[in-house]
Amino acid sequence: MPHPSVADVFPDQPEPYRWIEGEPEFDPVRHLQLERPERSRTLADLGYDDRFIDGQASEIAMFSPARVLSDEGVAALRDTIGLLRPHVRQAPDGHRATGFLRGTVFLSKFVRDLCRCDEVTDFASDLFGTPLAPHTMVYQQGHMNFAPEDLAKPVDAWHHDFVGFDYVLMCHDPADCDGGDFQYFLGTREEGHAIVSRGEAIPDDRIATPRFPGAGHACFMQGSAVYHRATPLRRRAERVSLVNAYVSLDVTRPDPTRTFFVTPEGPYGWIEDHPETRHAYAEFARHTAWLGREKLSRLLADLTLDADRETATAALREAASDIERAIRTLEIGPRHFTEMEELRRRQDEELLG
Ligand SMILES: [Fe+2]
Repeated sequence: MPHPSVADVFPDQPEPYRWIEGEPEFDPVRHLQLERPERSRTLADLGYDDRFIDGQASEIAMFSPARVLSDEGVAALRDTIGLLRPHVRQAPDGHRATGFLRGTVFLSKFVRDLCRCDEVTDFASDLFGTPLAPHTMVYQQGHMNFAPEDLAKPVDAWHHDFVGFDYVLMCHDPADCDGGDFQYFLGTREEGHAIVSRGEAIPDDRIATPRFPGAGHACFMQGSAVYHRATPLRRRAERVSLVNAYVSLDVTRPDPTRTFFVTPEGPYGWIEDHPETRHAYAEFARHTAWLGREKLSRLLADLTLDADRETATAALREAASDIERAIRTLEIGPRHFTEMEELRRRQDEELLG
């Protein structure tokens, strides 16, 4: 059962999704093998300053690969992926990742139950030292990246995530792949983005390439603060990664989730006439409603009757701020991705105060 705070946020399966048939049933006892990662890097290690770190729910940026699935769990996930294959989309040229699948929690009960299972959520909460819940933007649960059909393209280009917390789970054994490495930048997202935007390559000595011992291992990270990619494959291979996102239930820090709507051109996989696109507005409104509700609950718990006028006003303003920002974003509507990037940068700056 998901945390009570988010239980009513996840919608039932919407049209036109149908469950795949013949998939295994997720069983945490048989399918999980949670083993703590050995190493971590803090946000400070990546060069973030105190102002930035104070605005995040955890000081940890990144963990070395942790075992998540048992051998049986890997086999069950692979069976499920085989059934999901017909749904994989190859995005048009210019999009960030070419082979991908979203809305998996509306297609596969196995993926849905894995992405929302309490054991993994508690494991991740413990690692980051903040209470997490499966992400309230449901399309951010169980996103999958697949090898592109054109080998020259990266599996996923340099970027930072639109969500605060997530993991990248290898569904294949990376040892079977020539290339297709998950990598991250040893620096801040702003610095990484600036280098890539100038058309320069990130120096090798500033790139970390975590070594995954096998399928079923995952890197847990604050994806919004870790600039990362997956390199091109040098030979055709079965490469599939599953990215599952979380929100922190500590809403005293600014929401790291970023949502903007983009026109079809550009690298963010916004494809017209797909359910994911049609559902994006309500999904964002539902996420914002959850966040506002959490903040209002906190106000009711914390605001005492002797609070003065200024304190009461500030408390209400803060509780309503995400709703007001979301309304502005919805009113702006779809924009070209370069404009969306600028809106994102401005909002990052604004939210850090
Ligand atoms: Fe990512």
